[in-house]
Amino acid sequence: MRLQFMTWAEVESHLETSKGIIIPIGSTEQHGPIGLIGTDAICPEVIADLAVAETGALIGPTISVGMAQHHLAFPGSIALRPTTLIAVIKDYVLSLARNGFERFYFLNGHGGNIATVGAAFSEIYAETSFERGSRRPPIRCKLANWFGFPEIAALSKELYADRDGRHATASEVAVTQYAYREHIKRAEMDPAPPAPRAFCDAEDYRKLFPDGRIEADSFLATPEHGERFAKTSAACVAKDFAAFLAET
Ligand code: NI
Repeated sequence: MRLQFMTWAEVESHLETSKGIIIPIGSTEQHGPIGLIGTDAICPEVIADLAVAETGALIGPTISVGMAQHHLAFPGSIALRPTTLIAVIKDYVLSLARNGFERFYFLNGHGGNIATVGAAFSEIYAETSFERGSRRPPIRCKLANWFGFPEIAALSKELYADRDGRHATASEVAVTQYAYREHIKRAEMDPAPPAPRAFCDAEDYRKLFPDGRIEADSFLATPEHGERFAKTSAACVAKDFAAFLAET
């Protein structure tokens, strides 16, 4: 159930039975010649919807712009600085916590967000840690990457061997093709070469990876693969979220 389709009164009564929420978080950035700019936000959003379909869990509004400074040399990319994203996450969580939410499960679609989301959690915990004897309700945050479950690694290996890649991956492109068949793109491209080294800023990234991909053969993606990735990840998320809520 999406928070945005509920009334405040429904949310208030939901809080009597569960204090958890899933928050999709992604990015708005180039994803190579056929990957959609919204890929990293679309994937966790679609997977969260599938994961909660039978559980009645809540899904908060997607944070669809993330820490993506390294993609800014490609048109259409939007980035929040790490400090801005930390502030966004902190205010998002504390807004919901004010009225009783306690467990925040961030379902992430963008590797570049991981360090910053971790720092945001530390900032949130610092709010109560610095307040000796705080009586605030306990807030607990968790980050899960939709692509990070062992079941997804196994499926990626089965479908693409070692060609799924690191950015504009065939698996993430496949999930968007499954969700939005009307937006499937086609383009000629060669297999992606190995990355020569780690990238730094946006200009450096574009110089190293001229078409935007990192080691990814995005053209291997199909909507049928996407359905398998989305449903496999959703089953993992449903289990992982339930375990998170049950933690003592
Ligand atoms: Ni991505």
